[in-house]
Amino acid sequence: MLSISSMDEKAARAEIDRLRKEINYHNYRYYILDSPVVTDAEYDRLMKTLQDLEAAFPRLITPDSPTQRVGEKPLAAFGTLKHSIPMLSLGNAFSDEDAIEFDARIKRQANLPPGEKIEYVGEPKMDGLAVELVYEGGSFARGSTRGDGVIGEDVTQNLRTIRSVPLKLTGKAPPYLEVRGEVFLPLEAFRKINRERESKGEPLFANPRNAAAGSVRQLDPRTTASRPLDIFCYGLGLAEGVEIKTHFESLELIKSLGLKVNPFVRRLLGIEEALGYHREIEEKREGINYELDGVVLKVNSIALQERLGMLTRSPRWAVAYKFAPKQESTRVKDIAVGVGRTGALTPVALLEPVQVGGVTIERATLHNLDEVERKDVRPGDTVIVQRAGDVIPEVLTVIKEKRPSGAKEFRMPEECPECGSRVERVGAIHYCTGGLLCPAQLRESIRHFASKRAVDIEGMGDKHVEQFVEAGLLRDVADIYIELTPDNLRNLAKWKDKSISNLITAIERSKNPTLERLIYALGIKGVGERLAMVLAKHFGSIEDLMKANEEELINVPEIGPGTAKAVVDFFREPHNRQVIEKLRKAGVVFPKDQKVGGPLAGKFFLFTGALESFTRDEAKDLVISLGAEAAGSVSKKVDFVVAGAEPGSKYDKARELGLRIIDEGEFRRMVGRK
Ligand code: IVH
Repeated sequence: MLSISSMDEKAARAEIDRLRKEINYHNYRYYILDSPVVTDAEYDRLMKTLQDLEAAFPRLITPDSPTQRVGEKPLAAFGTLKHSIPMLSLGNAFSDEDAIEFDARIKRQANLPPGEKIEYVGEPKMDGLAVELVYEGGSFARGSTRGDGVIGEDVTQNLRTIRSVPLKLTGKAPPYLEVRGEVFLPLEAFRKINRERESKGEPLFANPRNAAAGSVRQLDPRTTASRPLDIFCYGLGLAEGVEIKTHFESLELIKSLGLKVNPFVRRLLGIEEALGYHREIEEKREGINYELDGVVLKVNSIALQERLGMLTRSPRWAVAYKFAPKQESTRVKDIAVGVGRTGALTPVALLEPVQVGGVTIERATLHNLDEVERKDVRPGDTVIVQRAGDVIPEVLTVIKEKRPSGAKEFRMPEECPECGSRVERVGAIHYCTGGLLCPAQLRESIRHFASKRAVDIEGMGDKHVEQFVEAGLLRDVADIYIELTPDNLRNLAKWKDKSISNLITAIERSKNPTLERLIYALGIKGVGERLAMVLAKHFGSIEDLMKANEEELINVPEIGPGTAKAVVDFFREPHNRQVIEKLRKAGVVFPKDQKVGGPLAGKFFLFTGALESFTRDEAKDLVISLGAEAAGSVSKKVDFVVAGAEPGSKYDKARELGLRIIDEGEFRRMVGRK
């Protein structure tokens, strides 16, 4: 390529076109097919070149350029967009009988013999937010929410930030096309957002759907861009120059244009197959990383769809066959108050046991006093509880009609229910001021320290930690390494040789955490996993982090003033400094020099099969501590595939791609563990 300064507009245009095509292709490989063919660094270079060229020739910037995903300015309010064809909703079926009746009704209405097998398309019913994407001349022109079905909100800026929404269609794009789909948030991302919100004291999203809707209906597109939203498209609106005979063909067309269609979509012959499909997807439901609330059955033939027509708000040719609900009603026996690691008091509804989506529920969180007051939950009330995205069950609403007379409003206690210390309110949250003198805070901070994402000590579950604290063995987290000796454990109820030796081994194993896990484990207010990693990469050692003042901390990307203050306060507290010293003396190794860099910086490792001398997590932590990254799936960006015993399909795929495969011995030499 010529240097940018020596290019005229014509040459620049050609180069810009070429780069956009190439980047769009890589986006498609990455976000739609989940199988990239370039490294992140190569991708970044292409993007940088395109940005530079566009900066030099701003007249050539078009809205469908891959550089134009994230708009800068928040909106004051959303505009509205009218759907050319109304966006309908669906009738529901809740049982096989309902679905069979749906099938029978279709045959009656279309005068088909009862024995005829109708061809359906089965699709998962994603629980997110319905949107319409409009493509003009193959470029993404605008997009809207469903709204009332006729008029929706113009959320174009936000939809542009979703990586699986192509800004330019591939293949032979129709001149004008409306595509409908469901925007959703993967469960893992939903949980992470809520963890972050919790640590910042912000209100939680009740379920992934609300989180997705809240992210799309955001006036600041930068917030939307920071949420890993995804989309599955499930149908067409107005489409010029498109001739199709079946719904399935429309899905194939959508796919061929580079849009994402749910991989579980299937053609089904007759209602029997459709019932089987419903059962199959419901079984798969727990293993799928986004929320489903049922399957949608759609008549495949467009001609038959047209013969059947519509009801007022929904078509006669489709039905949502729902899964067992994740909401149920039950009675609140009482409202208790739990005390968390940071001292936050959480009101919890104690419930008459009830089955929700296959799990018995006896407690549901009420988050904080504002929430209790907003929902006006009182002991004795009948409430709707929900279990969403396998988060902690929560109370959704109160059925006021069923409130017993004289039901008293809930009050937050003025003293901590666990230790009697004074309770203090900060924003929406009430805190116990007892610190680690409060057995609940002590218990929770120890549990957090030992948890899987922190230093990961297996066998330090709720009950055991409670037992150790009650027995007076643990007064801070360092006591884990000092007091949990075989002799001390033998004196406790239910501890036998085998369980003792398992716990001791697990404790020994936890003595070499990575710096980021260690920082996370300390439980500093506002420092979740993400910020722990940021701090570890920036400071490289606990000593340097401890020395940092607020100003230095605020200058670290992603660290805000609140977190900066919390970090400084934490390390200023003599008790916390003593605990860190005590941990060190007890044999916990505080890693050093984990700044960006490290001997394996920039390398990607993928592990497959069982290793002899490391667990998978240990091996991953090890490479991360040396500056490398652990990849989750096979792709060309992987530099080393470490193959243990009985490697899986990743091994075959790695061979196909010609990746460098090493055995455990070579891996050990590479990481300096002879
Ligand atoms: S089709 C005429 N297909 O469910 C057909 N909808 O109550 C209209 N949804 O607003 C919708 N997954 O938000 C269809 N595979 C799917 C769907 C789906 C989720 C949502 C969509 C719609 C609501 C219908």
